[in-house]
Amino acid sequence: MKTNAAVVYETNKPIEIEELDLDGPREGEVLIRYTHAGLCHSDVHIAHGDLEARLPMVLGHEGAGIIEEVGPGVTRVKAGDSVVCSFIPNCGVCHYCATGRQSICDMGATILEGYLPGPRFPITGPRGEYGAMCMLGTFSQYGVIHQNSAVKVDDDLPLDKAVLVGCGVPTGWGAAVNTANVRAGDTVAIYGVGGIGVNAVQGARYAGAKNVVVIDPLENKREKAMELGATHAFATAEEAQTAITDMTRGRMADSAILTVGLMTSEVVSSGFNAIGKGGTVVVTGLNKIEEETIQLSGSVLTLFRKQVKGSLFGDCNPTTDIPKILGLYQAGDIKLDELITKTYTLEQVNEGYEDLLNGKNVRGVMVHEH
Ligand SMILES: NC(=O)c1ccc[n+]([C@@H]2O[C@H](COP(=O)([O-])OP(=O)(O)OC[C@H]3O[C@@H](n4cnc5c(N)ncnc54)[C@H](O)[C@@H]3O)[C@@H](O)[C@H]2O)c1
Ligand SMILES: [Zn+2]
Ligand SMILES: [Zn+2]
Repeated sequence: MKTNAAVVYETNKPIEIEELDLDGPREGEVLIRYTHAGLCHSDVHIAHGDLEARLPMVLGHEGAGIIEEVGPGVTRVKAGDSVVCSFIPNCGVCHYCATGRQSICDMGATILEGYLPGPRFPITGPRGEYGAMCMLGTFSQYGVIHQNSAVKVDDDLPLDKAVLVGCGVPTGWGAAVNTANVRAGDTVAIYGVGGIGVNAVQGARYAGAKNVVVIDPLENKREKAMELGATHAFATAEEAQTAITDMTRGRMADSAILTVGLMTSEVVSSGFNAIGKGGTVVVTGLNKIEEETIQLSGSVLTLFRKQVKGSLFGDCNPTTDIPKILGLYQAGDIKLDELITKTYTLEQVNEGYEDLLNGKNVRGVMVHEH
């Protein structure tokens, strides 16, 4: 079948819309009709070459849709199911899945190559075999994905909102709840309020933090954070540092969660300085693989028993945490509707990313037409 998709051929060029060929689902695979896709900063990293990916690549890794057809041996979903995609697949049996760490499942090894186990490229076109971002490629009307990337959700959930639970919500929420292990009464500092950071705010608040301090140079972001549970908002790390010193009587924050668009050593240092003894820095934002974004005093780390932790997918287990977070949404404990600033068509993908880079969106969502 044919599908229209947003493709990166070459870095630092506009994303192109192209009609591509999509093979049917084989063993363990499913055909999904994507209804919605979220515009996450990680796709920009691919387009800018900050995250080196195999090209050409169909972008998009935050997605939701309806299963149209299943291949042989598929047991997790059936035709007609509503699905939220997980940007890391989970096989259930590798060392990491088996020890409750699905976000580092061995099957995720090819998310930046974009092919399915085989290697197998269900998408082909004028430039040969196309990878799909995170083995999903949600900026396409249809996709053939592995069943291990598909999480069935309640049929009555609005997918235009649930789509955010494919990346941004669990990544941010889990960075606070799982990686930082925020406890009642904590002081938490969150650097960067995009689709990820705003959900770190929601996670920290839900876990019972007393002070949820956000830092973002943009006023619209700080306002949204305050609306969704932040208690203090600052434009600069310096202002936050002073305020955290005052509000904790010098004990400093229990955790700092770093969710800026492009991670730098300055941001990591700011977070490291904002936490006190026994505190944790959570690094969620990304930069080039070879960029040394962590330059800190190891002795301070040791003497203050500080920790610096990487967080992937908020250290969530997609099969259980995606339904859990959607349950919190249904109960009103997590907001999703309020996170969506603007919607776009597939053809408007470049406009959507301009808006993201200009800081206009908390989250933009692509609405697919079929
Ligand atoms: N670890 C993971 O599992 C994972 C998953 C998804 C995304 N990410 C990464 O997380 C990061 C955030 O993604 P997003 O979609 O929320 O991005 P975004 O562009 O929507 O938001 C980033 C925010 O950071 C702010 N910012 C930039 N520089 C800052 C600074 N020095 N101090 C404070 N704020 C600053 C911007 O104003 C913006 O509001 C990206 O690097 C993305 O690739 C990681
Ligand atoms: Zn993402
Ligand atoms: Zn696994």
